[in-house]
Amino acid sequence: MDTITAIRNLRVVRKYAEKQLTEEEVRVIADSARKTGSSKNTQRWDFVTIRDRVSLARLSGTTIYAKHLPSAGAAIAMVVDKPDPDYPRSVLWDLGRAAQNITLSAWEMGIGSCPITVQDFALAAEVLGLPDDKECHYIIALGWPADPNDLKRPPKAGGRKGYDEVVHTERWGEH
Ligand SMILES: Cc1cc2nc3c(=O)[nH]c(=O)nc-3n(C[C@H](O)[C@H](O)[C@H](O)COP(=O)(O)O)c2cc1C
Repeated sequence: MDTITAIRNLRVVRKYAEKQLTEEEVRVIADSARKTGSSKNTQRWDFVTIRDRVSLARLSGTTIYAKHLPSAGAAIAMVVDKPDPDYPRSVLWDLGRAAQNITLSAWEMGIGSCPITVQDFALAAEVLGLPDDKECHYIIALGWPADPNDLKRPPKAGGRKGYDEVVHTERWGEH
């Protein structure tokens, strides 16, 4: 699959087949996260891969918006230093890029994904065994789609704003 086609068709998948991802499949996807470019090449991140069903179920308790996590085939937790008042926003940029590399690599392999915003940092830290100075803000659920057509369907009508709504030419409001 070429990159532009993948970007155009990529969507979140929340319904997964029962089949778990193998260690090797998870490793390939996590390796794409590791390879991501970052601000000044600082690589201020760690990734925890999760295949254990009990851990997936417990992590779903970190937010009310992760009901799909217990049925995922695996997940990757994105870990950063605990934010301080000078928390540079470039960390968020870097994490977003790593997240996109995870989701695009999974998509290429026929694996669906869905980002999850962690709200209970303490529970996530406990399940993942994080040291005191680390925090997990995002988890990406991974799984073979329950309906393989999820990977082939054309983009949802109205799923994204129109080109002229968000892309301006030379100056704001000009097209
Ligand atoms: C930063 C971020 C956080 C998200 N957090 C959640 C979440 O906690 N739970 C969830 O089910 N989806 C979450 N999503 C998925 C979005 O709801 C999804 O990307 C959006 O609805 C577009 O879906 P589509 O690509 O299938 O059109 C998150 C997405 C992003 C980019």
